[in-house]
Amino acid sequence: MSSQAVPVITVDGPSGSGKGTICQLLARELGWHLLDSGALYRLVAVAARHHGVALTNEDDLVILAAHLDVQFLAREDSSVKVILEGEEVTDAIRTEEVGKDASIVAAIPAVRDALLSRQRAFADAPGLIADGRDMGTVVFPEAVLKIYLDASAEERAQRRYKQLISKGVGASLQAILEDIKARDDRDMNRAVAPLKPAADAVILDTTIMSIEEVLAAVLDTARHKGLR
Ligand code: DC
Repeated sequence: MSSQAVPVITVDGPSGSGKGTICQLLARELGWHLLDSGALYRLVAVAARHHGVALTNEDDLVILAAHLDVQFLAREDSSVKVILEGEEVTDAIRTEEVGKDASIVAAIPAVRDALLSRQRAFADAPGLIADGRDMGTVVFPEAVLKIYLDASAEERAQRRYKQLISKGVGASLQAILEDIKARDDRDMNRAVAPLKPAADAVILDTTIMSIEEVLAAVLDTARHKGLR
C-alpha cells in the first residue's frame, strides 16, 4: 500500500498535553502503527552528546539527523525499546535535559528537513498514529483526522511532576513549570513548523479531563470519520 493510501491520525500539542499516552492507547485500540516524532528529535540531541557535537553546530547536527542509526523494537507488552548506534537509550532519551536539547535542535530547519522522509516512512497499513508538534500541519497534511491536545501550563507541569515523583526522581514543580513555558515558547515561536493546530484540527482542552475521557473523545471523533 502506498503511504498516500494509508490512513493517518495526527495528534499534536505541547509537552505534557497527554499526547504520548493517548497515542499509545489509540495505536493499541485501532491496531495501527505509532510514530513518536519527538523521540527522533530527542535521538538527534543524544547523538550530538555522544559525538561531542555542540547544539550550535548546525552543519554537524544535520549530518547526525540524516544518518541516525536507530531501531525501534516492539516489546511483548507493546512498549518500545529504542536503540541508537547499537546502544539502548530507551530511558536516556526521556530526561528533562534531553527534552530541552531536543527542542533546541528541532528549531533548526535543516534538521527538520533531514527527518521528514524518515517520519513519512512510518505510514504503513493498516494505519498510523502520528504524535508530535507539526504532524497535521507539515508532515501529514493529508491526514484523515487531526487532533490537537492542549492543557494549561500549570496542569501540564503538575502531570510531569507527579510522573517524576512516582518514578522516585526528585523534582521541583516551579522548575518544571518554568521549563515547560520555555519549551512552549521555543516550540511555538520558531520560524519553521511551529507548534500550532492545523486549520482542520479538532482541538481538545484536556486540562480537566482524565486520560480515559480524552481517549473516549478521540475515539468518538474517529468513529464519526468512519475510522473504526
Ligand atoms: O514530544 P517530545 O517532548 O518528545 O518532543 C521533544 C521536543 O522535540 C519538543 O520540545 C519539540 C520537538 N518536536 C518537534 O519540534 N516536532 C515534533 N514533531 C516533535 C517534537
